[in-house]
Amino acid sequence: MSARIIACKLLRKKPSVDETKRAYRVYLCGGANCRPHSVPTLHHLLERCIWRHGLAQQVAVLVGTCQNRCGSAPNLVIFPGSYRYCMLTPATIERIVAEHLAQGTPIATLLEGQGAR
Ligand code: FES
Repeated sequence: MSARIIACKLLRKKPSVDETKRAYRVYLCGGANCRPHSVPTLHHLLERCIWRHGLAQQVAVLVGTCQNRCGSAPNLVIFPGSYRYCMLTPATIERIVAEHLAQGTPIATLLEGQGAR
């Protein structure tokens, strides 16, 4: 079974109960300024990394609308937290999965400010 990818806000759909029970929810911005970078390239990489680390049942990946950080696109937010990562690259996606999602350690040097609260 693959990690479920749901374009919740794009489809005007809330996360399902199953997705809200997972340990982490990753909201990848699919807005107009992030989309050229994040969808599909970073989105697919994020899924592959989650699979490689065996986290498909613990992490829900959702693609949403603009997160109001267009100047630092592409962006994602991880809950619980929240923790915002900006200016994503393939290398930062790999680190976020390996350190934040797999080990539970947010990467302070990659976070925007003190998080996305
Ligand atoms: S489009 Fe992603 S923050 Fe605005």
